[in-house]
Amino acid sequence: MNDDIQEILFTEEQIVAGIDQVAAEVTEHYRGSKFTVVSVLKGSCVFASDLIRRIPIPLELAFVSASSYGDGTVSGRLELNFFPSDQEVSGRRLLLVDDILDTGRTMSSLVGAFRERGAAEVRSCVFLDKPGRRALEYTADHRCFEVDDQFVVGYGLDYAGEYRNLPFVGALRPEIYQQGSSGPETVSPAKTLGD
Ligand code: IMP
Ligand code: MG
Repeated sequence: MNDDIQEILFTEEQIVAGIDQVAAEVTEHYRGSKFTVVSVLKGSCVFASDLIRRIPIPLELAFVSASSYGDGTVSGRLELNFFPSDQEVSGRRLLLVDDILDTGRTMSSLVGAFRERGAAEVRSCVFLDKPGRRALEYTADHRCFEVDDQFVVGYGLDYAGEYRNLPFVGALRPEIYQQGSSGPETVSPAKTLGD
């Protein structure tokens, strides 16, 4: 698995430092009020579980699962696979947590979906941000690190379902996704599913 990594971008130590900083920002914003962290599956599960343990104020945890499809030219369609109950959304202050903000489609669609269902406030926190890839205007309220336009894996981020368990973030060697083994799981990074 490690042989498929071209370069390590963020080590475990750097990740901890980045999360500590964002956890402090989040704590500051929500101090004294109830809120719910909504982890966007599957990619954010590693980040969300580390993040919530560094936030020393009361919070609830919920999950949402969505897949976005789009190749950068066509407006992406968001499919909701799993959504929190009305009780977990209505009138609540929500912090959506995702692994990476790429085109921005997943996050902006999810923010809209939660607002439509009556959330009192919807904010966002992403582990990584690729501003160079944005297809629509969207800025996260909190983010740990900015990355260049390259395909990254590890710390929850996958390629074709794998590499999520790497403890660091690395750039995947282009030959892995350019000549990837054939099969239904193989996706071009540009068309990756939004999980
Ligand atoms: P967006 O809707 O284009 O912002 O897509 C965000 C989703 O695409 C993320 O939640 C990831 O699942 C996936 N994604 C985007 N870039 C990468 C990457 O470099 N590595 C792994 N997954 C990525
Ligand atoms: Mg994701």
